[in-house]
Amino acid sequence: MILPAHHRQRRLDLASRIQDPILLVGNGLRERNAANEIPFRQDSTFLWLTGCAQPDAAALLAGDRCTLFLPAPSPDDALWEGRVEPLDAVRERLGVDRVLPLSELDAACASARPKHSLAVADVQATTLAARLTGLDLAWRRQPGPAALVHAVGQLRNRKAPEEIAELEAAAAATEATFRACMSATAPGQTEASMAALFEGILSMQGCDTSFPTISTVRGEVLHNRHRVNTLEVGQLLLMDGGAEVASGYAADVTRTWPVSGRFEPRQRAAYQAVLEAEQAAIACCQPGRRYREAHFAAARVIARFLADEGLVTCSPDAAVEAGAHALFFPHGVGHLLGLDVHDLEDLGDAIAYAPGRERSAAFGTRFLRLDLDLEPGFYVTIEPGFYIVQPILEHPDLRERFAGMVDFDRAAGWYGFGGIRIEDDVLITPEGHRVLTAGIPKTVVELEAIVGSGRPASERLG
Ligand code: GLY
Ligand code: MN
Ligand code: MN
Repeated sequence: MILPAHHRQRRLDLASRIQDPILLVGNGLRERNAANEIPFRQDSTFLWLTGCAQPDAAALLAGDRCTLFLPAPSPDDALWEGRVEPLDAVRERLGVDRVLPLSELDAACASARPKHSLAVADVQATTLAARLTGLDLAWRRQPGPAALVHAVGQLRNRKAPEEIAELEAAAAATEATFRACMSATAPGQTEASMAALFEGILSMQGCDTSFPTISTVRGEVLHNRHRVNTLEVGQLLLMDGGAEVASGYAADVTRTWPVSGRFEPRQRAAYQAVLEAEQAAIACCQPGRRYREAHFAAARVIARFLADEGLVTCSPDAAVEAGAHALFFPHGVGHLLGLDVHDLEDLGDAIAYAPGRERSAAFGTRFLRLDLDLEPGFYVTIEPGFYIVQPILEHPDLRERFAGMVDFDRAAGWYGFGGIRIEDDVLITPEGHRVLTAGIPKTVVELEAIVGSGRPASERLG
């Protein structure tokens, strides 16, 4: 459980790095049409420092003191929202020094003159922070002053024991969910029913989804949002999803399994290669090792598979050197994870890339989201994949660049294969690493045993 004492300690840790007053704004409650709100999620840094999950909040941090500003409760609120907590009760519950009505924020800033703040996803809140500090702030592009961004990144990136307990809870809820979905898979079920079961089981466990669930037999579409297909024998179902527990901590897991419960020979070979790539990448997750090594360890295994299948005609090393493997594994091997699924990415590459390292523009590595030396407490995903993406394989520039290295005619024989991704959540420990999602079936034997072993999704939901 995350307690007020934890938030206070985080504020003290931040104050030891940034002595000047800091204005923080949270996300706001916004409508998509009259009285119909967009689902609200608090900004993760705001949540991490204050524990306050209420919309339209702000906070002034000055040394070890925290003043929270909240919209003043109105008598009407009780009618629509139920009993509204008085500001004094909020102060006690969150362990902050003061809670004032939001209408007092301008005057408080005029007196404290904060010169530090952070942009949040909510444009109105970011505009407010920019006006009250005079900073140039824009979500993801101008996250805030470099010193504050750096300090928050350093602190949030090293997960404390109480955070690890929350991450373990998210992983456990996600495991139960995947097991249920695997057992409920059968031909005739739909991508939509699988997603509904996934999200329903998370919800029954008191969790939210940490991002929109991917449930697809077209796994080669990396963030496929469509759920229009019926599952057929011979297809692979890819599900990428995870729990967000009440405290906001997330899991992010992908598994791919055969709809029929049996891998066909080509699927099995590709699956084994992705699994081996994942294991090679996970083995690199050690303190002091560069995360980028995990990416290339996975890439080398995929390249060996491509060479074995005759999809690349050069040596695996030459394929990786040239980036030819990326035609079949076009994304990075993973990212940071924590309160956000792509944790700290809103603070920009200054957090995810060590000083002196810049994101490459090259095809394949431009989506490598992380290039830090790993440290105990870092929490990352490892998620290699193998995809047959026809638009990539038919892209004139890529065909020209990789002519003589990739057998595009042979690749055409794989069209319609779909995609395979295997994703786990890995905590870096002083000794090495711990895979918090290791209990979710992923070997061929485990998957063939569990898939289809229970009542199908539509029966459970119907
Ligand atoms: N679910 C998005 C990702 O794996 O990065
Ligand atoms: Mn991920
Ligand atoms: Mn994922």
